[in-house]
Amino acid sequence: MPSQQQPGEHPEGIPFDEVSWLPSAHARKAFLPEADEHARRIIDTVVAVWPSASGLEIPLGTVATVALLPHADPGAPEAARLIASLRPAQLVTTMRHMWTHLWFRHPFLVERAGLLHLWLDSVSDQTAAEVTELVHLLFRDGLLELGADPDRRLATDLLGRLMQRLRGRESKSARGAFHTPDVIVDFGADMLNAGAPGDQQIGEPAAGSGNMWRAQAAHLRWQGKDPAAREWVGVEIDPLSAAVLAANSLLWGLGDGVLIACADTLTRDSGLAQAREERDRAIARRNTLAEHPTNN
Ligand SMILES: C[S@@+](CC[C@H](N)C(=O)[O-])C[C@H]1O[C@@H](n2cnc3c(N)ncnc32)[C@H](O)[C@@H]1O
Repeated sequence: MPSQQQPGEHPEGIPFDEVSWLPSAHARKAFLPEADEHARRIIDTVVAVWPSASGLEIPLGTVATVALLPHADPGAPEAARLIASLRPAQLVTTMRHMWTHLWFRHPFLVERAGLLHLWLDSVSDQTAAEVTELVHLLFRDGLLELGADPDRRLATDLLGRLMQRLRGRESKSARGAFHTPDVIVDFGADMLNAGAPGDQQIGEPAAGSGNMWRAQAAHLRWQGKDPAAREWVGVEIDPLSAAVLAANSLLWGLGDGVLIACADTLTRDSGLAQAREERDRAIARRNTLAEHPTNN
């Protein structure tokens, strides 16, 4: 349906002037709290807007999308007011485009993160409005600035902590999905000296949202090494956790040497052979589309 553009209105949504509630990118960055407090503030915001444990993939996917926007487009923090001026349906389309854009760069991880973004293909008007409200609050809380800063996004497992808060402790203990506290995994990465020469593969048999990987990647960066030069192999039985692990792999810049199986580690090959095939197929599809874009 064609949009009902009002005289003086920006063709993409409401006029920019009406987004004056959002501080400039410069001001948002200048007033960021330290990383742990920043993550806590973002999580509190999401939990306040989305208190129920139903449809977790929507708030988690919204946070993942906003955090990854600077990865897809480094100019995203400066464009926040423009994005915030979009109507809900336009914003949802923009969010979908971001995942398509990332798919061309990291097809396997975007497909593995599917639970966090496939809902964007069929969003009701009410959900689009709720997602828009949440995106505005996340912009105000500086999530774009977190996503644009490699040290800040590696400082804590924001998505994992959010998943834990949204799920609530009781249901989580039943499924064994406890997030390992940052202080323990950061200390563990240091003790194990992640990134020792010859240590090319970093495995995780019960990966959760990947807080161990985060600590190891942060340790590698601290040593001046590139986490994307390693192979990261993880198995996670819970589909939502596996999707968060994939989104985190994108956010933390782990590169394309990431293999994530959504499977039971205790089975014969832990689902890794199937995950490898899925990764090969995703890359082949991307290559075909990149070579013959008009066939699409
Ligand atoms: C302690 S948590 C994850 C710890 C992780 N280091 C973190 O901090 O994010 C354990 C994870 O193992 C997963 N898990 C439990 N049994 C599993 C199995 N048999 N195969 C694969 N994953 C399993 C759970 O779903 C949960 O996400």
